[in-house]
Amino acid sequence: MKFFVDTADVDAIRDLADTGLVDGVTTNPSLIAKSGRDFVEVVKEICDIVDGPISAEVTATAYDEMVAEGRKLAKIHDNITVKVPLTRDGLKTCKSLSEEGTMVNVTLCFSANQALLAAKAGATFISPFVGRLDDIAMDGMQLISDIVEVYDNYPALMTEVLVASVRSPMHVLEAAKMGADVCTLPPDVLLALFNHPLTDKGLEAFLADWQKTGQSIL
Ligand code: G3P
Repeated sequence: MKFFVDTADVDAIRDLADTGLVDGVTTNPSLIAKSGRDFVEVVKEICDIVDGPISAEVTATAYDEMVAEGRKLAKIHDNITVKVPLTRDGLKTCKSLSEEGTMVNVTLCFSANQALLAAKAGATFISPFVGRLDDIAMDGMQLISDIVEVYDNYPALMTEVLVASVRSPMHVLEAAKMGADVCTLPPDVLLALFNHPLTDKGLEAFLADWQKTGQSIL
């Protein structure tokens, strides 16, 4: 499974990229607004930090403008993945940009039928929002299961399932069990994956016993 970081906070991205375990970054208009920074500038900086797909979302809603914005964003860096919403104009834009060789991440996906349309439109990634379904007492991970099942029936479909709106390590575990291709994680969720109290306790005991030997390796 690939791990993307879901933020426009370059300090958090730099810190997590240092682990060598970050495969890409996703942003959206809300995350860009939260950064308080110029959109193009912060996306350029992110491209310099992480060598992988960097999602930057269009904000137009009509086809012609979406394509124009997507083409401008794609010029920022070869790793730019243009994000478009799962609307009719968004999928029409996806088809046009993907045919030009631009990576496209179709976002705001909430049904397997939507995901099937996005794959037919040539999406590089589909972003189902699991947390927002959970938030309204629906089963977000069932959507992932449905999409993976549908996509597996059609090997010619190359779209990768990018699990988004992730709220906890449990979402990551379930997504991995289902065979999702990517999880995009808020920094705190990615950091939480490292942690287990028994690891901390066990290491403390190992080091305490080692200390008693009076030895050193170097
Ligand atoms: O990449 C999409 C993600 O940022 C949405 O997450 O927590 O706003 O549902 P959230």
